[in-house]
Amino acid sequence: MNGVRLREIREGLARLHVPDIPRGRGPGKDTGLPFYNPTMEKNRDMTVLLMRALGRHGVTFLDGLSATGALGIRVALEVRGTRVTCNDQSKTASELLLKNAEMNGVRLESVVNDRIQAHLSKTSYEFIDIDPFGTPVPYLDIAFQAALRDGLVGITATDTAVLCGAQTKACFRHYEARPLHIDCCKEVGLRILIGCCARVAARHDKSITPLLSFSTDHYMRAIMAVGTGARKADETLSRMGHVAHDTETGERLLSMGPPPDQVSAGPLWAGGLLDEGSVSHLTPLHHMRHETSQLVGLLKAEVGAPGLFYDTDYLSRKLRVSPPKMSALIDALHKAGFVAVRTHFSPEGIKTDAAWGELVEVYKGV
Ligand SMILES: C[S@@+](CC[C@H](N)C(=O)[O-])C[C@H]1O[C@@H](n2cnc3c(N)ncnc32)[C@H](O)[C@@H]1O
Repeated sequence: MNGVRLREIREGLARLHVPDIPRGRGPGKDTGLPFYNPTMEKNRDMTVLLMRALGRHGVTFLDGLSATGALGIRVALEVRGTRVTCNDQSKTASELLLKNAEMNGVRLESVVNDRIQAHLSKTSYEFIDIDPFGTPVPYLDIAFQAALRDGLVGITATDTAVLCGAQTKACFRHYEARPLHIDCCKEVGLRILIGCCARVAARHDKSITPLLSFSTDHYMRAIMAVGTGARKADETLSRMGHVAHDTETGERLLSMGPPPDQVSAGPLWAGGLLDEGSVSHLTPLHHMRHETSQLVGLLKAEVGAPGLFYDTDYLSRKLRVSPPKMSALIDALHKAGFVAVRTHFSPEGIKTDAAWGELVEVYKGV
C-alpha cells in the first residue's frame, strides 16, 4: 500500500491489516494513512453488542467513515445477516478495507469511496455510524436526514475537551450549548452531544431515543433510535433541559423544559441515556476484553438512575470531609431510602435521587 508497512492485528472476530505506526492512547489525528485506534475496540464491541441485543436481522448498516473497516467488518462477522456498506473518502483507506474484508471472507454489500455527505444525499440505511476525527457536528445534519424510520444512528465524538468545558467558545460554536467544567462534566458533555443530535433530528421532523450512550477513555458515544413525524420530534424537544450549578456548595440540578433562573450549562438532553429494554440484553462475547464486560455491568446498573452524578472527591473537598468508602456511602443512602448507584462516568462517582440537603446529611454521617 504505497510503500506503507502494514501489520496484522486481531480485534473481535476480525483480522485486520493496519498501518504499522506507533500509537498511544487517546484520540488520533489524520495522518493521511488509514486510521486504526486500538483504544476504540471497546467502542466497536459496544456497537456489536447493541446490534445483537436488538436482534434485528438483515439490517442495512453504513460504516460511514470506516478507515480500515474495523467496525464494518466486525459487524459483518459478529452480527450475522447484517448488510454492511463501508464508506471512506480516502482512496487508500477504501483499498485497504476492501482487502481486509477479503482476508476475513466477508462480502460487503458495497465499498464506497466518497464524502459521506455526498453518499448519504443519495442513499439511506437502517443503521448509520459516524466516527470522525474530533467533532461529529459537520455530519449530523445529513445523518439524521438520511436516517430511516425506526432506524439507528450511532455517533462518536472525540472532542471531549470541548464538550467537557475546557473550550467554552468552541462548545457554543459547534454545539450551541454552554458546557460546565466540573466533576460531572463528562455526563454534561454527553448530554450536550445528544441534545445537539435531538435538535438536528427535530429540524427534519425526526425524534431520537438514546438506546446506549456512554463516555469512556477519550470519547463519547451515543446510539439513538430514530422516529419520524412532527409530533415525535416535538416530544424529543420537550426532553431538552439545562443544568443549574451552585459554585459555592457544588449542588447541581438537571431540569427539563424552559431554562431555570440560573443556567450553568445547556441546552442539553435531560432525558434518559440508556434504554432498559436494550441495555438489559447486552451480553459480552467470549472474545471481548474484560474492560467491555466491566462497562456493560456498570451501564446495566445505571439504567434509570437519576441524572448528573456527584464525584466523591469533589464533594469531600466542598464539604471539607474525607471521602467515605463508596460501598459505605451507597449503603447509607439505601438505608435512608434513596436510590444510589455507581456510574461508569467515574470510579468515584455516585448517582442518587437524594436532594442536596439529604445527600449532605448522609454524606457527613458515613
Ligand atoms: C477516525 S477515522 C474512522 C475510524 C473508524 N471508524 C474505525 O472504527 O476504525 C475517520 C475517517 O473518516 C474519513 N473521512 C474524513 N472526512 C470524511 C468525509 N467527509 N467523508 C468520508 N470519509 C471521511 C477519514 O479518511 C478517516 O479514515
